[in-house]
Amino acid sequence: MDDLAHTHADADLSRGAHVVAIPGPSMVPDAVLRAMHRPSPNIYQGELVDLTHSLIPDLKRVARTEHHATIYIGNGHAAWEAGLVNTHARGDLVLVPDTGNFAQNWAGTARGLGLRVEMLEGGDDRAAFDPAIIGARLRDDADHEIRSVLMVHTDTSTSLKADMAAVRREMDAAGHPALLHADCIASMACDRFEMDDWGVDVAITGCQKGLMVPAGTCFVFYNDRADRARERADLATPYWDWRPRTNPEVYFRYFNGTGPTHHLYGLRAALDLLMDEGMERVWARHDRLAGAVWDALDAWAAPGGLEANVRDRAHRSSAVTTLRLDDGRATRLREAAETLGTTLGIGVGMAPLGTPEWHGFFRIGHMGHLAAHSLLGTLGVVETGLNRLGVPMGGSGVAEAAKALS
Ligand SMILES: Cc1ncc(COP(=O)(O)O)c(C=O)c1O
Repeated sequence: MDDLAHTHADADLSRGAHVVAIPGPSMVPDAVLRAMHRPSPNIYQGELVDLTHSLIPDLKRVARTEHHATIYIGNGHAAWEAGLVNTHARGDLVLVPDTGNFAQNWAGTARGLGLRVEMLEGGDDRAAFDPAIIGARLRDDADHEIRSVLMVHTDTSTSLKADMAAVRREMDAAGHPALLHADCIASMACDRFEMDDWGVDVAITGCQKGLMVPAGTCFVFYNDRADRARERADLATPYWDWRPRTNPEVYFRYFNGTGPTHHLYGLRAALDLLMDEGMERVWARHDRLAGAVWDALDAWAAPGGLEANVRDRAHRSSAVTTLRLDDGRATRLREAAETLGTTLGIGVGMAPLGTPEWHGFFRIGHMGHLAAHSLLGTLGVVETGLNRLGVPMGGSGVAEAAKALS
């Protein structure tokens, strides 16, 4: 009997397919993996060339723009640089509303490129940035020194979602000509995003989250206003210049050199999935899954227990949820989750790395190619971890999530 108890206690519960429940890179669909599994293609003519042309209109459908789309080899940081260098001259002033770690890092990139950066504080990393603060600052800028507002749509650190349309309304009401840039790296094909209708001039994203392709390509969408800024943008170097990449006469100009061949096949397969489903349904699916996570959180809620970082559901992204569990319990919960075959996201930028406070945050990604069973499994793992750590719970979050999806 003792032997049996010992065996049960030591049971390895992480066997089976490992689940990575982090906010990107997200799960890569089999159809994408299969499309990438091939020998090197002909890069001069034929299938790859036709396939590349076909990506552009579908990318624009995802970003909801009729304007321009470019593909770069690179990650989200590369997209930050691409968007900035094509629209600014050295020394230009940009305004960055502080929505969290990714706004701060975008600002750091801008500074590194030789721009002047003004961080705008909203005062709370648990509620959406108030667009009126942006409007007030722009009204003060009588000489129109500010060239761009850099607004993160979904800040993956806080899991705050910005009201981009309201930001544009404030900019227009202030009569200010600054460009509106949107970082949609975590939000695109997860949270509703309407580039043209919301008056966004430059939108950037990467392929590894809502677009379900392994990291390595990124996309910049821009309109004609943004392209006019290109005239005086002396930061644009030959590699990053978006003009030769847009509607190129010669195929290799798309990428300023050799294309990311296998990524293009993968992207085609991912866009086929999104186009078949339709963007409205893609967004609705993300909202539904995110709602199940939030219902679970409401059920778990208890004094001294687990808490969502963002208090109001209307301010939360449907791609990622940042959670608070103080006294270092968030890290212990992540460690427990690993023993159950699941990787949860670390806290990013909520507290300085390595400090005791840093161990008080974790994140759940609910973006991209995610089936309900996988999300329910992740919530079950979190609940098991909460039980193990003796975290106070109001009730079963898993039961509530199951009801939400019933
Ligand atoms: C909102 C946001 N912006 C920018 C980035 C940076 O992207 P990358 O890590 O691909 O450089 C990320 C990555 O998680 C992100 O979530």
